[in-house]
Amino acid sequence: MSETPRISIARISIANAGKHVGESVEIAGWLYNLRRSGKICFPQMRDGSGIMQCVAVKSALDEATFEALKELTQESSFIVRGKIRAEARAHGGYEMDVESATIVQRVPEDKPYPITPKEHGVDFLMDHRHLWLRSRRQHAAIGVRHEIIKGIRDYFDSHGFVLVDTPIFTPAACEGTSTLFEVDYFEDEKLFLTQSGQLYGEATAMAFGKTYNFGPVFRAEKSKTRRHLTEFWMVEPEMAYADLEDVKRVGEELICFVVARVLENRKEELKTLERDVTKLEAIKAPFHRMSYDDAVVKLQAKGSEIKWGTDFGNTDETLLTDDLDRPVMVDRYPASVKAFYFQPATDRPSGMGDVAMGVDFIAPEGYGEVIGGGQRIHDLDLLLRRLQEHNLPPEAFDWYLDLRRYGSVPHAGFGMGVERFVAWMCGLEHIRETIAFPRMLYRTRP
Ligand code: 4AD
Ligand code: MG
Repeated sequence: MSETPRISIARISIANAGKHVGESVEIAGWLYNLRRSGKICFPQMRDGSGIMQCVAVKSALDEATFEALKELTQESSFIVRGKIRAEARAHGGYEMDVESATIVQRVPEDKPYPITPKEHGVDFLMDHRHLWLRSRRQHAAIGVRHEIIKGIRDYFDSHGFVLVDTPIFTPAACEGTSTLFEVDYFEDEKLFLTQSGQLYGEATAMAFGKTYNFGPVFRAEKSKTRRHLTEFWMVEPEMAYADLEDVKRVGEELICFVVARVLENRKEELKTLERDVTKLEAIKAPFHRMSYDDAVVKLQAKGSEIKWGTDFGNTDETLLTDDLDRPVMVDRYPASVKAFYFQPATDRPSGMGDVAMGVDFIAPEGYGEVIGGGQRIHDLDLLLRRLQEHNLPPEAFDWYLDLRRYGSVPHAGFGMGVERFVAWMCGLEHIRETIAFPRMLYRTRP
C-alpha cells in the first residue's frame, strides 16, 4: 500500500525567521494581537520565541481560512504557513505572507482570555499567573532568569567546582529555627524542608575540594516584603582550604561573569523590561568593601537609627548603597546576628564585640542582599559550644561534627539567591515576578 506523499514544509521558530527569508515555512503559536481592515488582516502570532506579524490577504486565501483568521480571538492556538519577508517596520523585523492556516483551538467569544491589554491589578494577574507568563514582560523576566542560571552553572563548571546537590528533606536547621517548615515523614519522624544546602556542602567540599549545590530552599518567612519568598532557588559554592577573602573574590567574579552574560545575550529582554542597562554595565570589579562597624557609622551619618549589634533591615541596606553604582561587600557582622557556624574573628580587640567572619553582598538600587556567606568554624570544641549557645541539638549534627574530627580544615562558601539576582538584573519592583510560580506568605496558588 502506498500513502499519498505529504508535502512537508519546515516548521520554524519565530526567533529564527531571519534565516528563512524568501522561504515558505510553518509557524505554530497563539494569537497575540489582531488588526484588520476590510480585505486584509494582520494576526500577530507569538510562539514562545518571538512575535511574528502575519499578513493575511483575502484574495490570496480561501474564504474560510481568511474568515477564521479575521475573527480569531486572543490566545487562540493556530498554525500558519507562508513566506517570510524582511520588513523593517514589523516587530522583530520580519513578516509572513500567509498562504494557509489551521486553527487548533479557538478561544470562544463568551469565555475570552482573561488578561486583556487593559490594566489589571497585581492580585488578579497573580491569580492568573499560569496565563500571565505569556505576556511580554513576564516572558522577558523568565528569559533573563534562564540566562542567569546558565551563567551561574557555566561559571562554576569552568572554575573547578563539582556540582553535588544536597537533600531537601533534612533533620537539622541550618539558618536558625524560626524559619523552618516542618514535614511529617514516616512513623512520626519530623523532618524540615531545607533552608540551605550548606551543611552538606561542607561535607562535599571535604570530598571534592570545591563544590556547589543548586536547588530550591525553603524559609517560613512571615515577613511580607518585596524581597522574600518562602521557596526560592539558591546556588551555594563551598571550598576547602579557603577563608573569607576567597568568598569575596569568588562572589565578585561570579557576579561580574553573570552580569556580562545577561548584557550580552539578553538585550531584547532587557529592552522589553525597560531596564536601564547603564546600571548593569557599571557592575564591575572591584566592588566596594566595608566592615559592619563602618557600615553602621555610615548609616548613622545618613540618619538611620541603627545601633551596633543589630542586623540591617531593607531600609538600611537601601540607604547603605544609595550612593553606590556597584555592590558593597559588608563583612564582620556581630556574631550574635549570624548563624551558629560562622568562624569568629580572632584579631579583634576585646571589648569591641565578637564578630563573625561572614560577608553580605548588598546590591545597589535597593535590591538588598544578594549573597551571604563566609568562613565556617573548623574547630570541634568551638563548634560544639556554638550549637549549645544556639540551642541546637548536637545529635542532629553528629555527621556534621565528624567533618571537624576527620581532617578538619579552614573552609568557606556562600549562597546566592537566584530570585534576588533576577530582580536586580531585570529592575523589577517585586521578587514575585522573578520565578514562574512564586510561593509567598499569602500566595501558594496557582
Ligand atoms: O544569607 P542566607 O540566609 O545564607 C545562607 O543560607 C547560607 N547558608 C548560604 C551559604 O553560606 N551557603 O541566604 C543566602 C541568600 C541571600 O543572600 C539572599 O540572596 C537569598 O539567599 N535569600 C532569599 N531570597 C528570597 N527569599 C528569601 N526569603 C531569602 N532569604 C535569603
Ligand atoms: Mg543572609
